Formats: sequence, structure tokens, C-alpha cells
Amino acid sequence: MFNPTAVITGTSSGIGRAIAEALVARKWSVIGISRQPVQFDLERYTHYPVDVSDSGVLTETTRQIMQQHGRVDALINNAGVGHFGPHEELSVEQITELVSVNLLAPLLLTKLLLRPLKEARGAVVNIASFSAWESSSHGAAYAATKAGLKHFGDSLFEEARRSGLRVVTISPDITRTPFYEDLSFAPEDDPEAAITPGCVAQAVVEALQQRQGTAITHVVMRPQRVLLKKRPRP
Ligand SMILES: NC(=O)c1ccc[n+]([C@@H]2O[C@H](COP(=O)([O-])OP(=O)(O)OC[C@H]3O[C@@H](n4cnc5c(N)ncnc54)[C@H](OP(=O)(O)O)[C@@H]3O)[C@@H](O)[C@H]2O)c1
Repeated sequence: MFNPTAVITGTSSGIGRAIAEALVARKWSVIGISRQPVQFDLERYTHYPVDVSDSGVLTETTRQIMQQHGRVDALINNAGVGHFGPHEELSVEQITELVSVNLLAPLLLTKLLLRPLKEARGAVVNIASFSAWESSSHGAAYAATKAGLKHFGDSLFEEARRSGLRVVTISPDITRTPFYEDLSFAPEDDPEAAITPGCVAQAVVEALQQRQGTAITHVVMRPQRVLLKKRPRP
């Protein structure tokens, strides 16, 4: 039986971890990339401990992945960081990290895996954010990376749709993950104040399971209620 293969970035936590679990449960082989080791022992899961902001290592890793696994049917660009606050108060290092991890790494990984993805009539799934669609006070740089990722996906789909490649932009709003651990705000405990990583993973699965010929290009997901709590800045 044919088992498709997905490359997923940011599998050590939150949304990426949930996507990895959901795809493995549906008999996909998953190749995960993140700096930290992954704390689950899944059959059909292979981990590459990589910092995606290092372009040289990323390039060498994709070469190794293709050599060792031979094919890729989906690339899920999920790894991301969040730095928020008045733009003049962000450090140069924080802005550089936002652009490197949230935008540059997905562009490079997509370029490096595009030929095998087209050959497989596969999919690129970009985990953007609701902030890709609306302006975000105190999140200008983060929103810029996510709007860039969304625009990249739209343009890539136009460029590559005739090859059979699908490009999906998933835009979650507040999602309950460790993303908020170092931030000065977080969703309230009310279950309606945040969507869950499992719901985002389900949206990814549904987009990937769509019949060839129909392409889901955007999924926007929002919590039922807007309930944020402020915390002292770490
Ligand atoms: N949570 C939300 O409310 C929300 C809303 C909209 C969009 N998103 C987006 O969803 C994606 C996943 O976020 P999450 O909420 O699941 O956050 P998370 O729990 O903090 O997970 C972030 C993941 O990204 C990986 N990562 C960060 N920097 C990396 C680097 N330099 N190299 C390799 N991997 C790196 C982390 O792995 P390591 O630290 O092990 O490297 C981790 O696995 C992000 O793109 C985020 O912007 C989140």
C-alpha cells in the first residue's frame, strides 16, 4: 500500500506536533524538523534536529531527506516564532528571527523541495495566521511575515497549479499552544477563547484529502470568543 510522505517543520510543539500525529494516524510517513528533540515515539516518524533559520543547514538537510526518503508529497511550513510589542521596542535580533523563521525558511524549503512536490502532484501547506489578513497593532513585524507567507502561497499556486501542485494557506487566530509561554498576553482558560492545535491539524488533513482537481487554497480559523489575559512582560 502506498503511504505518502510529509515534511513538517516545528513538530516539537503545538500545531506542528498535532499535524504530525494526525498524519501518522492516517498512515502518512512524517519527517519532522525542529531544534528540540520530539517527545513522542511514533511509528513512521523521523526527526531532523535543525534550526530552520540556518539556510546552509536547511539546504543540506533537504538534500539528505530526498536521498534517504526518495519522495515528498506534502511540505507543511509550520515552524514559527512570535515577538510582539511596539515596533521600536523589538530588538534587531527579534525582527531578524521573525523574518528568518516565519518567512525566509518556508520560501527556501519550498524552493528546495518544489520539484519532487510537483512530481508527486503534492501540496505545500503554509501555517500563516489571522494576522495575515488584518492589521495587527503591536504585531507589525509578525503580521508582515504572515502576510508575506500568505501572498507567497497565492502567487506560488498561480505559478505551479498546472503541475498539479496544491498550495494551502491555513490562517489560525488564537490557538492554545506553548506559543504564548514567553508573551505578555495569552488566551483565557475558557475553551471558547482559543482554537485547538487538533482543529488546525484537522483542517490540514481535510485540505490534503481533497480530490485532485479541487484545491482548498485558504482556511481561516477563529475562536468563538475574544478573551485575552494580560501577563507581566517576561
Ligand atoms: N498559537 C497561535 O495562537 C498561533 C496563531 C496563528 C498562527 N500560529 C502559527 O502556528 C505555527 C506554530 O505555532 P504554535 O502555536 O504551535 O507554537 P509553538 O508551540 O511555540 O511551536 C513552534 C514550533 O516552531 C519551531 N521553531 C521555532 N523556531 C524554530 C527554528 N529556528 N528552527 C526550527 N524550528 C523552530 C519550534 O521548535 P523548536 O523550538 O524545537 O525549534 C516549535 O516546534 C507558527 O508558525 C505560528 O506563527 C500560531
